[in-house]
Amino acid sequence: MIGTIMTVPIRPLVTRSGRAGAVRASAGRVSAGWAGQAGAIDAHALADLLGRWPAADGPLYRLLATRIARLADTGELPAGLRLPPERELAAALSVSRNTVAAAYQLLRDEGMAESRQGAGTRIVPHRTTPAAVHRANGFFSGLLENSVVEADLSLAAVDCAPQVAAALADPGTVLGRALSGSDAVTATSGYFPLGLPALRAAIAGHLTDRLGLPAGPAEIIVTTGGQQALDLLIRCEVLPGQPVAVEDPTFPGVLDALYRAGARVIGLPAGAGLDPDRLEHVVRTHRPAMVYLIPTHHNPTGLVMPAGDRRRVARLAAEHPGTLFVDDMTLAELPLGEAPGPPPPPLAAFAPRQGNLVSVGSLSKLYWGGLRTGWIRASPGLIARAAAAKAAADLGSAAFQQAITAALLTDRHGDIVAWRREWLWARHDALAGALRAALPGWTWPEPRGGLTLWVRAGGDTSALAQAALRQGVAVVPGRLLSASGDAGGAGEYLRLAFTQAPDVLARAAPRLAGAALARSTQPRPARWSA
Ligand SMILES: Cc1ncc(COP(=O)(O)O)c(C=O)c1O
Repeated sequence: MIGTIMTVPIRPLVTRSGRAGAVRASAGRVSAGWAGQAGAIDAHALADLLGRWPAADGPLYRLLATRIARLADTGELPAGLRLPPERELAAALSVSRNTVAAAYQLLRDEGMAESRQGAGTRIVPHRTTPAAVHRANGFFSGLLENSVVEADLSLAAVDCAPQVAAALADPGTVLGRALSGSDAVTATSGYFPLGLPALRAAIAGHLTDRLGLPAGPAEIIVTTGGQQALDLLIRCEVLPGQPVAVEDPTFPGVLDALYRAGARVIGLPAGAGLDPDRLEHVVRTHRPAMVYLIPTHHNPTGLVMPAGDRRRVARLAAEHPGTLFVDDMTLAELPLGEAPGPPPPPLAAFAPRQGNLVSVGSLSKLYWGGLRTGWIRASPGLIARAAAAKAAADLGSAAFQQAITAALLTDRHGDIVAWRREWLWARHDALAGALRAALPGWTWPEPRGGLTLWVRAGGDTSALAQAALRQGVAVVPGRLLSASGDAGGAGEYLRLAFTQAPDVLARAAPRLAGAALARSTQPRPARWSA
């Protein structure tokens, strides 16, 4: 029996059109079908879905077959779907054609697939999970699979800051009165869809006093991380089919939430910074429901939008009240090196009463992702709508942890920021130095902050990411951060997070060089070698 693993791909693979039983292409990667069935999936789309399939013990063909079978079990590879030709999948995965052929054979032996002359290899009908069919995110597959790699450069997740770990180990040291007596958080119902009042007030104070963004508690909702903040805004403000403009590349979590909401995503080239003329043109032409930007320490480039451009975005927001402009500040307090001054203020600081300028943020990258604490700053009306959506999702984030977080934000923030900067700089320097030594041909824009490098590795980085996995290094191929897949050139880039220990990062670079070499010596399919 083939074992159990589960993943979720990044964008809907199969989109049903209005006609009963018909199938049309989604993002150009699923083509029209076979006897009214589910069409075909191309090799790169399947590679994205497969995630970290080789990160386990056993022969590669068996691991590959296991993974495909699990995707079929969850309905992400629907019955009737034609799998890529062996040769193309072998190239996309950077393995030999024999490996793919053996995997397909095992699938046939297990009754999961069938092959017919001239019709390729198809998934056969079997029991699936219907709700999983349109859920898609190869980016998060590392988290979903619980797989282990020696150097995980795919997730920009930080260690718990020691001040936070100490507070969690002994909450009494920070909570004081909030731990006992009539003010105790445990004396409440514990249900706060808008967030614990103490934390809403602490976040409002933090934005006003430290980040130059005036805010009152009524303009704040506490969310389960920045990801839920984005998801709630999308749920409340974007209807299926509406256009949403994002930087390209961008944070893959927002792409996932947008695809699930059925938004039509428009990418604005941003690999070397966002051109405000281009943004203005897209807003005037498409009238998007939402514009999502990461102006400070952009994920993945680490670049900063200049103050003059921010002023222009604020003016554009004033001219287009029907479009929600979202400033994601999640990485704003993570500068790299001694910048000449602090980054420019958040977008909403240029027009604090402009109702369609919204900010989101998170403590995940400064304090610890395990706190799962994020926020939205918006007009009280939008906050009320987001709270209704949050109540439907989870009735509020964990109250006790919110009390601890409020105390930390009020009393220990400066210490945590200072500690995290040292932590961050050491890791950035370790990775940048090791890459320069091992891969002198790779280039990246010098980041002003954040947790990642946007590296131009050249060639097909999906195949490179697969080869790197087999060297024990997980990285994110650029296409997973792009609204246009490979079309905008993101397929030549890798996102490398520098959140692992410096010695791990230093060891990862030569392995990436080994993977790059393996890729360049891999035999190519016949149609390329002519
Ligand atoms: C720009 C950006 N926004 C949001 C998030 C999600 O934050 P959280 O972990 O708090 O959900 C991330 C995480 O990497 C991010 O980089």
